[in-house]
Amino acid sequence: MAKTISFARGAPSLDIVDVDGLRAAADKAFESDPGGMTAYGTAIGYPPLREWIAERHQVAPEQVVVTNGSMQADAFLFDALVESGDSVIVERPTYDRTLLSLRNRGADVRMVELDPDGIDVSALERVLAAGARPKLAHIIPNFQNPAGYTLSAEKRERLLELARRHEFTIFEDDPYVALRFEGSPLPTMLSMDSGGTVVYASSFSKTVCPGIRVGYLVGPAELIAKIVKIATQTYISPSMVSQAIVNQFCLSGALERSIEFVRNALRERADTLCAALERELPEARFVKPLGGYFLWVDLPRGADVGALFEAAAERGVQFVKGSDFVLDGGDSSLRLAYSGVTPEEIEKGVKRLAEAYHQLAGVTDEDAA
Ligand SMILES: Cc1ncc(COP(=O)(O)O)c(C=O)c1O
Repeated sequence: MAKTISFARGAPSLDIVDVDGLRAAADKAFESDPGGMTAYGTAIGYPPLREWIAERHQVAPEQVVVTNGSMQADAFLFDALVESGDSVIVERPTYDRTLLSLRNRGADVRMVELDPDGIDVSALERVLAAGARPKLAHIIPNFQNPAGYTLSAEKRERLLELARRHEFTIFEDDPYVALRFEGSPLPTMLSMDSGGTVVYASSFSKTVCPGIRVGYLVGPAELIAKIVKIATQTYISPSMVSQAIVNQFCLSGALERSIEFVRNALRERADTLCAALERELPEARFVKPLGGYFLWVDLPRGADVGALFEAAAERGVQFVKGSDFVLDGGDSSLRLAYSGVTPEEIEKGVKRLAEAYHQLAGVTDEDAA
């Protein structure tokens, strides 16, 4: 069988990872701070990187904790804030690992519909008016995983206002922010907030590489101090080696170069994917992403994405079913990640996907053309 083409993993292909830049950053780190990076360190993270992040977000270093990937940051935040039975708002659809992590903690997870300009704030308002008292709302504002949608500036304002009025924390989960293809960046809710309503997470997984496992949280100093205690008990300290390498990568300018390179590659992949879908699978409905890794596809009502998953796998193409990102439904939707596939693979993969869909739908290739 032909080589499998995977639209399943939200991870970069090796050709968009700056391996030489990482090697140079590692050399520089070992040369300049061998003691600091080979010691245990403390749970706040590698201090110079913590300071770099604090400066980027215009906050005090005490408001930052640097972790082994942002997934670990999320887990610490949930450990600190979410108890079994607590109500938590998430977007529908949302990142499957967050959903699982919250459900494993016994949270009462409430999904609010996601529109192409972000969470349906009016629907959230109705949920709140009906008596919901969430502790937290988990929001992925830029190029959302799995939908690829971006929260508008107006909705950012309205969400903050709702959070203040109803006293819940906004967890702004923002690993894709740097990967914008077009238009101007929107302000983070963290930067728009004046009173400790927002806890912000981001990561170097999408701008440096995921294997480095460096992510972080920014929030009110007291909450960060509480999380640092949890982190100490969990792992003493995160990987100082990884964080010292990322620190040198940032200081040398390699980060900005890598972001530019990754952005251009992803833009080309997203363009190729959208054009191929329009040509090969005109039944697919989608909103072209303005950045990031993902494209969400809705197929006509009644389409059986479970069966499509099997039929596509037989043809050597993989994706993630929409149902993995919701509590119920999502049966005629799917997520395509274009981060790990070249434009040539995208062309081939979409052809195979369309063949599988048309075969299941009983449509011949001539009908579909
Ligand atoms: C929305 C979101 N949050 C968090 C993560 C976890 O990222 P990290 O590699 O930093 O743990 C991901 C990874 O795909 C993600 O999409």
